[in-house]
Amino acid sequence: MSEIGVGFIGCGGIHNNHASALVDSPDAYIACAMDMSEDAAKAHCEKYGTEAWTTDRDALLARDDVDAVVVCIPTGYHPEAVIAAAEAGKHVFCEKPMALTVAECERMNAACEKAGVVLQIGFVRHFCNEWLKLREVVQQGMIGRPVVWRSVSGGSGAPTPWYFDAEIGGGPFIDGAVHSYDFARFIFGEATSVFADLRRLKEGTTAWDTGTALVNFESGDQQQLSWSWGLPGFGYGVKADSAHDVLGPLGAVVFPGGGKLQVNLEDGEHEIEFGPDTGADWFHRQMNYFIECVKTGRQPTPGAKEGIEATRIAEAILSIGDQPAVVTL
Ligand SMILES: NC(=O)c1ccc[n+]([C@@H]2O[C@H](COP(=O)([O-])OP(=O)(O)OC[C@H]3O[C@@H](n4cnc5c(N)ncnc54)[C@H](O)[C@@H]3O)[C@@H](O)[C@H]2O)c1
Repeated sequence: MSEIGVGFIGCGGIHNNHASALVDSPDAYIACAMDMSEDAAKAHCEKYGTEAWTTDRDALLARDDVDAVVVCIPTGYHPEAVIAAAEAGKHVFCEKPMALTVAECERMNAACEKAGVVLQIGFVRHFCNEWLKLREVVQQGMIGRPVVWRSVSGGSGAPTPWYFDAEIGGGPFIDGAVHSYDFARFIFGEATSVFADLRRLKEGTTAWDTGTALVNFESGDQQQLSWSWGLPGFGYGVKADSAHDVLGPLGAVVFPGGGKLQVNLEDGEHEIEFGPDTGADWFHRQMNYFIECVKTGRQPTPGAKEGIEATRIAEAILSIGDQPAVVTL
């Protein structure tokens, strides 16, 4: 197969990370940009030099020069777009979260399997050196097992209101935290149960925006998240603290930045270096991997399985809401 023609479905914020990776790719080019907003589609063309644009998804999917699509629309609309793309025979890169429910994820996966197309989910942390090094350190047993991975984060949250709509974005315990559930699963294996107690601090929104969730894994490892997007405004409005660490029976992993992890053991503090990289590097690697999978026909990891299992954790946590309970997965 020569150069892969890629079409965008959605030309908002995150699509820029993928578009710049594609512009740099020797193996792919952007054939057409689609957004329901004409302004967004045209702005894409001006910025990235793409010649064709449309506001009609079916017109994009009917194009012979589009081999694959990159789906970057609000999460609640992913299923419809991914299924339509698969039915048109297009390979699919779908931003995370795959969808808001496991049932929708399974429909998306079934459509892609039936059409024989590649389906990759945008869990970009699989391409981030720091998180990959953490996985190696924990799996090698440097701090012993089982471990508890703690994470605290707070602020105004995502940039636009749809992220706070329970039916479209789902709020932080699916939208942001799905990266964490997925990566914990990548380190620890399958999850067995969740506990949660969630709140809504922001006014005029419908998704849970604040609370605590615990995820227990078959391995005995545990993930703890105490997160909020409940502060006033959107995006970088009001800030609170964020931190994470991993505790084990032999020590702790902490994250000092600067291209290293720090492992604190009884005999002292050990620096573990990894090749420093930037967010742009992660997105470039992620898109290069997708294009390679399209060219070879190999099913990507992270793919449907990862999307489904991370959504299973999120869906169970959201089902608990403000009535604290343990749900077995
Ligand atoms: N990988 C990451 O770290 C990461 C980061 C941010 C966002 N995301 C995910 O990417 C997706 C998009 O997020 P965003 O921040 O770019 O959103 P955004 O609001 O900035 O942009 C969405 C774009 O989609 C268009 N759109 C909306 N509905 C549409 C439809 N049905 N058909 C066609 N176009 C439509 C809008 O006009 C807009 O231009 C979400 O699923 C989000 O969770 C992932």
